[in-house]
Amino acid sequence: MMRHLISAADLTRDDAVLILDTAEEMARVADRPIKKLPTLRGRTVVNLFFEDSTRTRISFEAAEKRLSADVINFSAKGSSVSKGESLKDTAQTLEAMGVDAVVIRHGASGAPYRLATSGWIDAVVINAGDGTHQHPTQALLDAFTMRRRLVGRDAGLGQDLAGKRITIVGDVLHSRVARSNVDLLHTLGAEVTLVAPPTLVPVGVGTWPCEVSYDLDSTLPKSDAVMMLRVQRERMNAAFFPTEREYSRRYGLDGERMAKMPEHAVVMHPGPMVRGMEITAEVADSGRCTVVEQVANGVSIRMAVLYLLLGGNESAVSQTRTEESK
Ligand code: CP
Repeated sequence: MMRHLISAADLTRDDAVLILDTAEEMARVADRPIKKLPTLRGRTVVNLFFEDSTRTRISFEAAEKRLSADVINFSAKGSSVSKGESLKDTAQTLEAMGVDAVVIRHGASGAPYRLATSGWIDAVVINAGDGTHQHPTQALLDAFTMRRRLVGRDAGLGQDLAGKRITIVGDVLHSRVARSNVDLLHTLGAEVTLVAPPTLVPVGVGTWPCEVSYDLDSTLPKSDAVMMLRVQRERMNAAFFPTEREYSRRYGLDGERMAKMPEHAVVMHPGPMVRGMEITAEVADSGRCTVVEQVANGVSIRMAVLYLLLGGNESAVSQTRTEESK
């Protein structure tokens, strides 16, 4: 296992399957009356968020607390970052407090890599989303959700997504989720198709291990999972499509379109969703949509990543006494 988690592209198939299998063990803890393990007792994890987040920030905190770590939450808003303090000085201030791991979300692509490789700090670095670059734990929780839904929870251990057809739809240009998913799903043997308006397809996509289509309707019947992406208006500095209505008409998922998917196929979304834009309320609230499941699975994945990067080398749950059994 690597020392830091910066990019989904750094994960080998064995690394990824180990994380998915460990997350299955962690998920069993969630079914217990006391959902806690003593695994990270005495270790300190700081959640360093320079960009807004609901799901990632809360689920990392839940994961850290379920593993009994001491947790420090840092948000750039309301901190000395607003007075001009740099990433280096912020990180070293936290390091001085004896931090073992830093979970970082940053608007600049490459900030977690810089933190991990600069020598500024000794702590383990976990990327919780950097600019338009990577969001590796999102890709892992998405793969975990797909494996449970498409391969089966019991058959899941040691399995990957070989041969599964995954379609990712929408604002690929600004999406770290799309980049991370393409990397990880390729490593796990899945076939990925990106569907987007030509203006929202990144330059250089021809080198990515996936297909590109501009036609959602012809792709849906061949998909085992369809992942809808939010249009990231906050990262746009130009008009990428004529109107929201036109975007939804061509690239939005409604009930009529969902009916074109195979019966077993699922609809996914990393959140936050913009209902009425890329996905209708009918689809978002249907039993085929895994958005809430993805959030729950995010806690198990983040527990697994923290456990493995902070030194776990045995079966995560079976070798560890739970708080319950002490
Ligand atoms: N999927 C995701 O990263 O959501 P948040 O921005 O709410 O963390």
